Amino acid sequence: MVTRAHYLEVIRERLTNFPVVSVLGPRQVGKTTLARVIAGEQPSHFFDLEDVDALARLAAPKVTLERLEGLVVFDEVQRKPDLFALLRVLADRAPLKARFLLTGSASPAIVRGVSESLAGRVAMVDIAGFNLQEVGPGEWRKLWWRGGFPRAYLAATDAASRQWQEEFVRTLLERDMPQLGITIAAATLRRFWTMLTHYHAQVWKGSELARSLGASEPTMRKYLDLLSSTFMVRQLQPWHENVAKRQVKAPKVYVRDSGLLHCLMRQPAFEDLEAHPKLGASWEGFALEQVLSVTGDRDAYFWATHGGAELDLLVHWRGRRYGFEFKYGDAPSLTKSMHIALADLKLDRLFVVHPGDDSYAMSDQAEAVAIMHLPARLAEASTGSGH
Ligand SMILES: Nc1ncnc2c1ncn2[C@@H]1O[C@H](COP(=O)(O)OP(=O)(O)OP(=O)(O)O)[C@@H](O)[C@H]1O
Ligand SMILES: [Mg+2]
Repeated sequence: MVTRAHYLEVIRERLTNFPVVSVLGPRQVGKTTLARVIAGEQPSHFFDLEDVDALARLAAPKVTLERLEGLVVFDEVQRKPDLFALLRVLADRAPLKARFLLTGSASPAIVRGVSESLAGRVAMVDIAGFNLQEVGPGEWRKLWWRGGFPRAYLAATDAASRQWQEEFVRTLLERDMPQLGITIAAATLRRFWTMLTHYHAQVWKGSELARSLGASEPTMRKYLDLLSSTFMVRQLQPWHENVAKRQVKAPKVYVRDSGLLHCLMRQPAFEDLEAHPKLGASWEGFALEQVLSVTGDRDAYFWATHGGAELDLLVHWRGRRYGFEFKYGDAPSLTKSMHIALADLKLDRLFVVHPGDDSYAMSDQAEAVAIMHLPARLAEASTGSGH
């Protein structure tokens, strides 16, 4: 078992402050495993809503749930959306008789239910695949290549890992999407997703995609949003600083899990990726997810002006403004674009994350951070200590 101390701590903390905590993330990322650990720590009742017996126990939900005490877990809550209204009533009881932990892997359904019924009563915790901190920073190459889904990361061999990913993609498209009421043909969505890997880490070009797939731009947008809402794709929004430069408006798009990216790109082995033109883009996406797994993504953007100045990632975190550049190269140095970003965006600090072995200062405000030092460096920044 890989220990997910950070998530456990966050979920425990939220449960003390909210009557309902909702754990959201992609399929197979480890939501149930986390919920079971939390449930095992206290008196609890566990309802797996994909299980017919659990559903039978909830045939008369009000009567059943009203008398339960302790922690009540609903795993895959989107399977029984009529629970939300009842949860609202149960969460408003005083004194609070039970708290509720929900897990879900379909954000549109769950977010709608949660926001419409449980506003002000619920805390959301987003779960992603394993990060560097969890697997050990020295394992970054393996994590990058295989991605963070537990079964892909922990597979006995790279081949077994890839097999699992292929199966995951197939199941998502052929079973999970239709269960969400999505009626787009699996083959169509797969073609779109595969095509999207060519645009990984680029500004969204809906018209280009529409042309190559022979579909309309709004249709492309709809597919993009669909893959985003099931946590497969990230849309990073542009930051608009109040300066007199024309700035880019469309989001940047990323296949969130680097392992699934490599699977969809049909890269047979790490060595092939190293010779691939998308190597730098893959690195950018991987390192970006590592940062966001620590800082959270609620206040994260990219920045680009039509004049050519760019910043891969801007995060407002713990009262500070951090910039990140992701460079696949051994010993990055300060570029003109980095100087402009530092000045125009008034960054407190700029981190240039690279795959080499050394971390070093590049200027008063900028430093190169080796990926294996990233978790420790972010932990340091979070406590306000710095250089
Ligand atoms: N921390 C972990 N260490 C090792 N293996 C893990 C860990 N978390 C999850 N796994 C493994 O990954 C797989 C998926 O885990 P789990 O069922 O908890 O995910 P899930 O998000 O609930 O998936 P689903 O969406 O399909 O319900 C399981 O085989 C589980 O044993
Ligand atoms: Mg589960």
